[in-house]
Amino acid sequence: MKFSFQFREYSPKIEEIYGTILTLGNGHIGIRGEIELEPTVYGTTVIGIYDYTPYFYREIVNAPRVIGLDMIFNGEPINISTHKLLKYEKELDIEKGSLKTWVELETNKGTRIYYESLRIVHGKRKNVALLKFKFKTDKKGVLTLINPIDIDVANPSYRPEILVKHCDVEELDFGEDFIYAGVKTIDRKYTLDIASSLLPNEKVDRSVIKSAKGIAEVLSIEVEANRVYEFVKYMIISSEKVPDLKDKALKELREVKKLGFNKLFAEHKEYWSEIWKKAKVEIYGDEEAEKCLNFNIFHLIQSLPRDSNISLAARGIHGFGYRGHVFWDTEIYALPFFIAVFPEDAKRMLIYRHKNLEAAKKNAKLNGYEGAQFPWESVDDGYEATPSLIPLDMMGKELVRIYTREEEHHITADISYIVDFYYKFTNDEDFMAKYGLEIIFETARFWASRIEFDEKKGYVIKKVIGPDEYHEHVDNNFFTNLMAKHNLLLGVTYYKKALKRGGTWKDTVDRVGIREEEVQKWNEIAKKIYLPRQIDGVFEEFDGYFDLEDYSVDPHGIGEARLPEEIRKKIGKTKLIKQADVIAAQYLLKDQFDIKTIKKNFDYYIVRTTHASSLSMPIYAIVASWLGYEDLAYEYFMKCAYADLKNLYGNTHDGFHLAAAGGAWQVLFRGFCGIDIEGNCIKIAPRLPSKWKAVKFGFSFRGAWLEIKITPKEVVVKNVEGKKTIKLDILGKELLLRPNEQIVVSF
Ligand code: BGC
Repeated sequence: MKFSFQFREYSPKIEEIYGTILTLGNGHIGIRGEIELEPTVYGTTVIGIYDYTPYFYREIVNAPRVIGLDMIFNGEPINISTHKLLKYEKELDIEKGSLKTWVELETNKGTRIYYESLRIVHGKRKNVALLKFKFKTDKKGVLTLINPIDIDVANPSYRPEILVKHCDVEELDFGEDFIYAGVKTIDRKYTLDIASSLLPNEKVDRSVIKSAKGIAEVLSIEVEANRVYEFVKYMIISSEKVPDLKDKALKELREVKKLGFNKLFAEHKEYWSEIWKKAKVEIYGDEEAEKCLNFNIFHLIQSLPRDSNISLAARGIHGFGYRGHVFWDTEIYALPFFIAVFPEDAKRMLIYRHKNLEAAKKNAKLNGYEGAQFPWESVDDGYEATPSLIPLDMMGKELVRIYTREEEHHITADISYIVDFYYKFTNDEDFMAKYGLEIIFETARFWASRIEFDEKKGYVIKKVIGPDEYHEHVDNNFFTNLMAKHNLLLGVTYYKKALKRGGTWKDTVDRVGIREEEVQKWNEIAKKIYLPRQIDGVFEEFDGYFDLEDYSVDPHGIGEARLPEEIRKKIGKTKLIKQADVIAAQYLLKDQFDIKTIKKNFDYYIVRTTHASSLSMPIYAIVASWLGYEDLAYEYFMKCAYADLKNLYGNTHDGFHLAAAGGAWQVLFRGFCGIDIEGNCIKIAPRLPSKWKAVKFGFSFRGAWLEIKITPKEVVVKNVEGKKTIKLDILGKELLLRPNEQIVVSF
């Protein structure tokens, strides 16, 4: 695979978009793609480091910036925005996980400067980032290089004029071969140790400055005209919870300096090469789709936390949109990719939810319910982090009330859904005994207490917000009710399985204190859960939705800006919906609907959906593909894949849309390739876009690694690593795939 992405424009606004799409990360550190030579508000993100903030409870911390570099040549500061820029080019290489930059400029005093850099955030060494750069000029003179650790960073907040500082500097230090900053978050929960060193090949004069902005080493070097000078900047960003962290960080800095850039880069390339062996998707006949999809996969992988104190944030490590909070985006949109391709990583993210089960139980109690209620937005401690009020003006007089915190309850069922999905893919008995069963039981308990009995309707769920957030305080949202039912039935099924199996599964039942009568009640509620009216086959999104003012939109557009103002103002009183809702339920619980009903619902809702959320198109794309709406499915698939590359939602600078990224992969897997797990069997019923000559990728299933190739004429499945025979159903043909064998089905 050879994938690189080139970008050639320069302006501070565009640079912010590049900042997101050229972010490099390794599941611990995230460094945005803005050029190192210009100032920026973005520092470093360290996954899992959160701090208290007004209105949003806790947010991911904008940690000190280490990637920055200042240059002065013969007294002239070399900012690219203050001289004549002759060439500006950036290249993201997703195969190697590196970012290159080329700059050529003529300074105001007429000096030509050539600058070239290569940066990586090391794949195998989680605390390490590197910047190698070259400098050349057409005049001789003195080059001054300033290598800072910039502690003067703050998070952008709900108001542009208010910045929130999260880092308290404990110590700035330096030695012959390092500069160092030790910082703590304001709440004292986390410590960060940051060390850096610039290593030139030449003899230089070195001094260090400390200021309110932090600490910097300053190197002065006499340069000749037209000679290339090369430097390597080593960076350590560590947040380990050990007593001698500073010493450890400095030791690691010395160690990597000793190894040198080339060795470290070779290790890093090896890491990505191993990753791509599993993650890569090959699409023959559509290079554009292939490139874009792998680009999204690259960003998903970079964002996945290495430990389970936090899960994947909605906007990744790429920006401060949604404050690093974890939503249902993770479970429903991103995790299916990880479950299928990197199940061990997916497991960690599920363990994160289990770790926060106590917080979810407290949350339920606080709201008057039983069991575990997961927060709509979650952070490092598992408590509810959704703001309930956001001030629009500086004085906080005009406040926007956010109800998702109190009403968007489907997240709890979404988490159970994905626990079951994980088990179906992995058969991970141990995980279920230790974590999964408890999540399913405690969430079923929640729904049993959340649901009310209505004499006429049966069991109802009042006052919620479904995935379509335009309509608040609604009763019996189709998605929520159906997912709650599914959650309760999972409780029943897994309870029965646990009794049958005994051992650690039965121990979990006892530990959680699940009683037979309780489970019977879950079953009764599930059977009698009310669903809103169905007219002409179309399910009403919630009670009363069909009575709202009708309004339709062009299904090819995105967002609300295209709507007349009077409609925008009263959007919640119209039938317009923000994103897939009924269709999302029909996607996730596909087996409960026949294709005719799905089609009726799709046709009805598609012209009433604004797709204002990037979570909308992936689901519509998958279902469109099932329905044979090939053009629409392909169009939506490409829009998911291009969400950030083309800044389709206008807010790419705030971070990567990881739900759209994971969604794009699901369009391939569940939509175009029609892969589904039913019991022990993998069903494959492909509907490839007609220009695709073939698609090839791998996934893991219950300990086996399967390689699959689909062309318009055949499906080939290889059982590469497994020890087990796998049951397949390829377009209705049932087959057994033995270890180290392959099956070809032609049609
Ligand atoms: C969407 C939610 C989503 C959130 C974070 C909102 O705009 O409506 O479904 O979870 O963004 O991506």
